[in-house]
Order: sequence, then C-alpha cells, then structure tokens
Amino acid sequence: MEDVYILAIESSCDETSVSIVKNGKEEINTVILSQIDIHKKFGGVVPEIASRSHVENITIVIEECLNGSNMKIEDMSAIAVTYGPGLAGALLIGVEAAKTLAFIYNKPLIAVHHIAGHIYANNLNYKLKFPLISLVISGGHTELIYMKKDYSFEKIGGTLDDSVGEAYDKVARVIDVPYPGGPVIDKYSKKGKNVYKLPLPMDDGSYNFSFSGIKSAVINLVHNEKQRGNEINKYDLACSFQSIVIDILTKKTMKAVKEYKVKQLLLAGGVSASIGIREKFAELCEKENIELLVPELIYCTDNAAMIAAAAYYMYKDKKFADFDLKIKPTDDLK
Ligand code: KG4
Ligand code: ZN
Repeated sequence: MEDVYILAIESSCDETSVSIVKNGKEEINTVILSQIDIHKKFGGVVPEIASRSHVENITIVIEECLNGSNMKIEDMSAIAVTYGPGLAGALLIGVEAAKTLAFIYNKPLIAVHHIAGHIYANNLNYKLKFPLISLVISGGHTELIYMKKDYSFEKIGGTLDDSVGEAYDKVARVIDVPYPGGPVIDKYSKKGKNVYKLPLPMDDGSYNFSFSGIKSAVINLVHNEKQRGNEINKYDLACSFQSIVIDILTKKTMKAVKEYKVKQLLLAGGVSASIGIREKFAELCEKENIELLVPELIYCTDNAAMIAAAAYYMYKDKKFADFDLKIKPTDDLK
C-alpha cells in the first residue's frame, strides 16, 4: 500500500487540534490550541464558550497545521474527525469542518471515536501487541478496554458515575487549585504524605469504578477539619487522594491483565499523564512481566495526532463515513 497521509480534526472538548500523520505512526505536524486559560476562571469547561472558541479557531488551526507541514489538502489520503463522545456543540464544529474539506477536495471521511484515539496515541511511539488491555483515564472517561486485534474493542468495565479526571478536578477545586487540577494534584502528591484516611471506592471483584464517593469523602473531610479549626495540608490531601486512586486503578487493572492473559497494558487519556500513576503501573508491570505502554505526555491529553493514528486502521479497512455523519455526544466504544 502506498503511503497514507491523514489530516485529522479533534474538537470534542476544550482543545482545537489538527494533525497530519503518515501511516498511522509518523507525525508530520500537529497544532493544539488549548482553551484552558479561557475556562480557568469558570473553574471548568463551559460548553457554550468552548463551541464559540472552536468556531473562531478551527480554520486558523487547519491552516497553521498545513503550513507547518509543507503539504496541501490535495496530498491527503483522507480527512478524519472525532464524532463523539464529547460536548455536542464542540463536536459539531470539527465534524462540519471535516465534512466540508472532504466534500470540496473529494477525500474519504473517517469518523473516529474519541476513546479509540486515546488508545491509539500509543501507536505513535510503539508497536501494539495483542491481546492487550487499555486503561483509559481522562476528564470524561474511566474505562478498561480489551483488544484482541487492531480496532476491535471490548469494554470490560467502566465508571458508574464520575470519571477519575472529574474527581481530580473537583478535589483540586476544594483546595483552591485552578482548573485543570490533575497536573497540580499529581505534583503536590509528590511533596505530601498519605495521612488522610479515605475509603477505597468500589472495592469489589468487578471491573467497574466509582469516583463520586471519594470526591464527597474529600469534600467532607475538608469541611470537618475546617469546622474543628484545623488547617488542611494540601500536599498531604493530594497525596492521600492520589494514593487511593492509584490503589483502585492498579488493583482492578492488574487483575484484568492477569485474567485476560494480555501481552501489553496501555495507559491512555489525560490522567495517564500523572507521574504517580505511571510510576506505580511501571513497578507492577515489571513485577508481572507485562509490557507497559504510556503515551508521550503531549499525546495523553486531547490532540488530533491520536485521532489520525486511529483513523489509519479504519482507512485500511475502508471504513468511511457518509456526508450525513452525525455527532454522538454519548457513545460507547464498539
Ligand atoms: O483526555 P483529556 O485531555 O480530556 C478528556 O478527554 O476528558 O483529559 C483531561 C483530564 C483533566 O481532568 C485533567 O485534570 C487530567 O486529565 N490530567 C491529569 C494530569 N494531566 C491532565 N490528571 C492527573 N495528573 C496529570 N498529570
Ligand atoms: Zn480525551
């Protein structure tokens, strides 16, 4: 097969990103325009503001990506886009832009599931070996996905309420850390001690998770300490929270890794940027002799390179979308 160049668009949340990737592996150019600074003052992503910002920036980001790549849209084999899950208005901007490019330049259109993108971020640096398990931990998701082969996904468990990223961001807010709190909690955690007692959430035999309880437990703990006139040590609280998160994530994931006899464990999604989480999984995987893949930090949070990487496998199978492609703000990975 001749070289495949895919231009991908990602706009499911608060990043407007466009990337060109060769053969699902080689990044030609990626532009990520993050809206974090805009949303920070509201303490989280405001959907309407996110949509407006995507509208304002999408053509600029497409142009910048092409300019930096020395390629033209005519050189592309296909146009890919995240169709879901995500914020409806935000998804719509990317999907309409992708449809327009595909229509005008007569290119196949590829609709990529956001979680498939997060998993395939690992493909940009490594070779995937099957069967594998991927733990997807982000602001919108906490899922354990089993893959027998390329582009085959079986969800074996997931969160029943909040995502792990949401819990990080809420706990951060309680100790006055601005959005997104995950990276700061991870940093504070290194400086603190695991002294605050928090419950291990959903400690059962299943592969499902629950993070709303731990979020409430942290809020109650801070409230009670304040009422007693005690000052909260934010480093210790961050460390205690992250320790519990690591305990439950590693307990269930390593159980799945053994039960499904996989060759690799892949971490994916924004929360997999956590150094604390990476270090613990590295230690456990070494002990169990399982190959651990973690994306480069830049590919952990939302970006279009991961969407182009996933789209390559759909291109090979000629899984193209029609021009009546609809966004799916909620959609399971199948
Ligand atoms: O994958 P992502 O960019 O967006 C979604 O698809 O949701 O993930 C964003 C989430 C946020 O909750 C953010 O706080 C968290 O990833 N995050 C981290 C770190 N970097 C980002 N959480 C823990 N440690 C980090 N270093
Ligand atoms: Zn994401």
